[in-house]
Amino acid sequence: MIEFVGVEKTYGNGTRALRDVNIRIETGEFVFIVGSSGAGKSTLLKLIMCEEKPTVGSVIINGYDLSAIKRREIPMLRRSMGVVFQDFRLIPSMTVYDNVAFALRVTNASVREIRRKVPKIIGLMGLGQKLKAYPDELSGGEQQRVALARALVNNPSLIIADEPTGNIDPELSFEILELLDEINKLGATVIMVTHELGLVEQFHKRVISIENGQVAYDRPGEPAWEAGAAADAEMGGGEDEVE
Ligand SMILES: Nc1ncnc2c1ncn2[C@@H]1O[C@H](COP(=O)(O)OP(=O)(O)OP(=O)(O)O)[C@@H](O)[C@H]1O
Ligand SMILES: [Mg+2]
Repeated sequence: MIEFVGVEKTYGNGTRALRDVNIRIETGEFVFIVGSSGAGKSTLLKLIMCEEKPTVGSVIINGYDLSAIKRREIPMLRRSMGVVFQDFRLIPSMTVYDNVAFALRVTNASVREIRRKVPKIIGLMGLGQKLKAYPDELSGGEQQRVALARALVNNPSLIIADEPTGNIDPELSFEILELLDEINKLGATVIMVTHELGLVEQFHKRVISIENGQVAYDRPGEPAWEAGAAADAEMGGGEDEVE
């Protein structure tokens, strides 16, 4: 469970990015974070990743107040998270394969496990032909999918994604959302920032809207059966007439 209690974040230059944020995200939830540019969405994610600290209030993960975390404990916290950044942060001197393998190597995974998992997840992202390419030889969408493969290869219990579909065409975005949806159904918590309201409408998940550093609204997701019914209705339904 992730909890924001009275969180304010003011950066060193005086910009107040978040104020009085109170949010509770249960384990296993799928949450979209939406809002205008500069609203504070990435800041919210950075607080969860312990990349920034709140100025006021606390961020609590599984009962653990992050303000009490020791510097040396941060890598362990990050390892339980699969993170996709807005700017990818791939390592330029490493191939696609090594960028993804690196995420496993730091967890001391065996060579066998790396050889088995890395090509599989890269293939799933449709990049099986690009294993030996370097990031600067890839399109933006391809780089984004490498970043996603790297985030998912560890089977993280928490996936934090900052606009993971921002550079991808709509069809692929939909597929990536379906993939995240499946991983979520297997138990992982997913928190995803997006500007694509079309995607948000298609997936019927909880939506937290941030405006001016505050929660503007928090709309619960529909239960699975309702989402299913809504999808059926979109398909045209019509079974009743046939009978
Ligand atoms: N390191 C920083 N130092 C100072 N100000 C910052 C820093 N990072 C972000 N800000 C400011 O904090 C506010 C919120 O930024 P944030 O990156 O959280 O917005 P966002 O909602 O993710 O926007 P976008 O949709 O454009 O990515 C903005 O006014 C931004 O300029
Ligand atoms: Mg952002």
